[in-house]
Amino acid sequence: MEFALTEEQKMVQDMVRRFAENELKPIADELDRTERFPTETLKKMAELGLMSMLVPAEAGGTGMGAVAYSLALMEIARGCMSHAVTTSVTNMVCEAIYRFGTPEQHARYIPKIASGEYPAGAFALTEPNAGSDAGSLRATAVRDGDHYVLNGTKVFITSGSYAGVVMVAAKTDREAGKRGISVLLVEQGTPGMKVARKEEKMGQRASDTVQLVFEDCRVPVENLLGNEGDGFKIMLASLDGGRIGIASNSCGLAQAALESAAAYAKDRRQFGRPIADFQAIGFKLADMATQLDAARLLTLRAAQLKEQGRPYTQEASMAKVYATEMAQRAAREAIQIHGGYGYVREYPVERYLRDAMALTLYEGTSEIQRLVISRQLLA
Ligand code: CAA
Repeated sequence: MEFALTEEQKMVQDMVRRFAENELKPIADELDRTERFPTETLKKMAELGLMSMLVPAEAGGTGMGAVAYSLALMEIARGCMSHAVTTSVTNMVCEAIYRFGTPEQHARYIPKIASGEYPAGAFALTEPNAGSDAGSLRATAVRDGDHYVLNGTKVFITSGSYAGVVMVAAKTDREAGKRGISVLLVEQGTPGMKVARKEEKMGQRASDTVQLVFEDCRVPVENLLGNEGDGFKIMLASLDGGRIGIASNSCGLAQAALESAAAYAKDRRQFGRPIADFQAIGFKLADMATQLDAARLLTLRAAQLKEQGRPYTQEASMAKVYATEMAQRAAREAIQIHGGYGYVREYPVERYLRDAMALTLYEGTSEIQRLVISRQLLA
């Protein structure tokens, strides 16, 4: 068993850590207040190779691998969670296009995502009445000559108004249940596609979360991703990798919470000494660090399995459920350690808790992760 990172993985980690420290952390509070989508920093991240990490170099990506990807996301999330979720969803889309797309689709979309010409990619599965039960989606794509005519509504779509390309799941065969679902690559600006509503969120406020409506939106047949009827499996397989991304983001957020709490505890004096000297505080920090390490190990194990081409669905769900719940606990404890100062905006820990609350919801709730794990256990 080998726990050491390779030289390349360490280089990626160091490079992203420096970038996040210098460019993301200083603007995270302002972004939270203004809800400004951070186009410029996302472009810089693309230029550093961080939007196509899971796609090999020969296909236009940076091919850093799933472990380096996970390490990079941990650093990005430590700096700013809005950047982290935007980056993780974009990488998931870029990888799905590589994995399931034609050579023409690779050539058309991967360079644009990888270079930052597209500020992001988006993944449109969820509908108003199809959340955890994603297979019950109702959007339709009806073949008409060289096009599909797409109709339907997608909700909670990360980066939906900025993504250059959106993976949209829709029924091409209404009689075939989940096996009648297909995925279309829909370009931003396609007539018939509109952003109907922007959500105001509790946290991750600089990530764009919108409702997309498709009304007789004509999508060329060559934009079908994979085969007709394979769409549900393509979306779920993509989410397996996506869940490692969200687990990584959770570890980054928890690291930030732990660092803030430890720094505050060493600085804040009560009863004549730093509160870090009290076991009540020291033990909280010890539990936060231990649980963070457990989450990191689960996450990197899932990433390593993925990188080795081995099955990892169950391990990705274990990492996701544990790391996301751990991040919420870490943010809560960080507030507790800060006392009243943790509840006001002067310190970042209240933002960490607000940001952490989305983690157990998107890319499959905690309940869905436990369903995936228990089904695999009992199979
Ligand atoms: N990979 C590939 N195929 C898979 C799969 C996986 N991980 N899991 C299941 N499948 C296949 C099954 O083998 C089955 O294939 P057959 O028809 O050939 O037998 C098919 O998919 C259907 O499987 P199930 O009957 O098990 O499907 P289900 O309806 O019971 O759903 C589920 C399974 C795990 C509950 C799934 O619906 C799920 O993950 N739900 C949560 C949805 C979700 O995560 N949404 C997140 C939205 S996206 C988002 O949040 C991104 C963002 O912007 C931040």
